[in-house]
Amino acid sequence: MTNLPMSKESHDKINQPVQTGLRKGLTSYGDQGFSLFLRKAFIKGAGYTDEALDRPVIGIANTGSAYNPCHGNAPQLIEAVKRGVMLAGGLPMDFPTVSIHESFSAPTSMYLRNLMAMDTEEMIRAQPMDAVVMIGGCDKTVPAQLMGAASAGIPAIQLITGSMLTGSHRGERVGACTDCRRYWGKFRAGEIAAQEMEDVNDQLVASVGTCSVMGTASTMACIAEALGMTVPGGASPPAVTADRIRVAQETGACAVAMARQQLTIDKILTPGAFENAMRVLLAIGGSTNGIVHLAAIAGRVGLEIDMQALDRMGCETPVLLDLKPSGQHYMEDFHQAGGVPTLLRQLRPLLHLDALTVTGRTLGEELELAGPGFAQDVVRPLDNPIYPQGSIAVLRGNLAPGGAIIKQSAADADLMEHEGRAVVFENIEDLARRIDSDELDVTAQDVLVLRNIGPKGAPGMPEAGYIPIPQKLARCGVKDMVRISDGRMSGTAFGTIVLHVTPESAVGGPLAQVRTGDRICLSVKKREISLLISNEELARRGRENVVIEPSAARGYRKLFLQTVTQADQGVDFDFLRSPQIKGKIPRK
Ligand code: FES
Repeated sequence: MTNLPMSKESHDKINQPVQTGLRKGLTSYGDQGFSLFLRKAFIKGAGYTDEALDRPVIGIANTGSAYNPCHGNAPQLIEAVKRGVMLAGGLPMDFPTVSIHESFSAPTSMYLRNLMAMDTEEMIRAQPMDAVVMIGGCDKTVPAQLMGAASAGIPAIQLITGSMLTGSHRGERVGACTDCRRYWGKFRAGEIAAQEMEDVNDQLVASVGTCSVMGTASTMACIAEALGMTVPGGASPPAVTADRIRVAQETGACAVAMARQQLTIDKILTPGAFENAMRVLLAIGGSTNGIVHLAAIAGRVGLEIDMQALDRMGCETPVLLDLKPSGQHYMEDFHQAGGVPTLLRQLRPLLHLDALTVTGRTLGEELELAGPGFAQDVVRPLDNPIYPQGSIAVLRGNLAPGGAIIKQSAADADLMEHEGRAVVFENIEDLARRIDSDELDVTAQDVLVLRNIGPKGAPGMPEAGYIPIPQKLARCGVKDMVRISDGRMSGTAFGTIVLHVTPESAVGGPLAQVRTGDRICLSVKKREISLLISNEELARRGRENVVIEPSAARGYRKLFLQTVTQADQGVDFDFLRSPQIKGKIPRK
């Protein structure tokens, strides 16, 4: 190798201002010119040319994993994103991050969401990229990516993996996971045999992709689009369709434009965008998890959710989307009905149309471009909703001074004003041990209480709030009961279920003081959840019942238990939230 002096051109190239593309975020060797020289030498080992390396770099967060069938189309999506990036003049660089699937995450996926958010944020910060495409789908992945990207602060765009197809069981259309629960309930009640359960198990998930109903994954896909974080129509195409691949290509091209315009995420995640997302959450009959995730994403940009204002917003936002578990259709039907733009068209008078989206155009401009709509029966008009109010109501009372929620659109109307005797389960293990015992003293009018499943209690606030109907009552045909916990439930679940009781029992919340035999009153009309004992008695029990908060000696669990916040702050780690609170949303 000759040792010629460096030409002026080469010298200038290497010493260009460290701002964009491969020149971003150089590794610290104390000599930036050398850092870039070394970086280029290594990447050229993969066969790249200088011409390719001079392009805007678009990172692609790859969450494909053998443990995550909801992301089973990740290889095809990455290929299409790369095509879009290249056609638009960028250089695509995919990189792996944590991937989380609901059924393959112990103790629960929520426990790992913040880890994925930290991984996403730090990999975006650490590696040179001018914009990032984040491929997410399964429940916790999209919120984790939006949280991480919001903190990283560069131009970012969400690509959804898309929903699975529905299957067919003995002439009946089925899909995960509302039908998983429905069939399991029938099995527990002795209505169907084990052999049929094996048969239906083959049909519930008919392809790769996310759950086919309005569970948390579909909810977060719609929320991401309503926030302006996907290309228009990016939420609904099923995973295995040509539409989904086209969305991926479009996303790649859009990321290049965002990089060139410096369209950073803070310009999109504004109070107006969050309010649009809340409207959509309420109007789609979305998962209750959506509130926790929105609180976490908003907390990253210095916004707090005002639960009372959210409840008022719910009173004027009807459920328009006729999808399971609140309605009858599946995600692929929603897509064929035009997807989120069809819904936004109906919600138009309630939206902030000036909110900016990843395309650089406003939501209102995108709606104009989407055209006039067409006849369909999945999205109802505002004057003919499937439920007159928003799907989620916010409750307060001496049992939940920090708030609790109920998905009223998926509850039994007869139970929404109810007083009953508490039957208390101490934790998940206690529930598993006793719920199906014939000895359990319980009637259909009782209120089932499960504690110690909050953010710190379980830990990770598992989706165990959908407490099963005790088997001896299920066998008699009981389908719903009032159930209360400090945990969450899957967005695919249904029933009169009070969730996210705050503060949780593991940190001494009033749920810790409930005893079997106490009376509990639920009034959704008055937005109240109350333990019918005197304040003095409640305080006395609190003094007697010394709470020892859960702790851990090492590792991620230690970090989690020391820093996790309550449901109203999104169950994020306290040190990851913005140190500065700029305001509350919704603003009225
Ligand atoms: Fe992945 Fe339902 S398990 S979306």
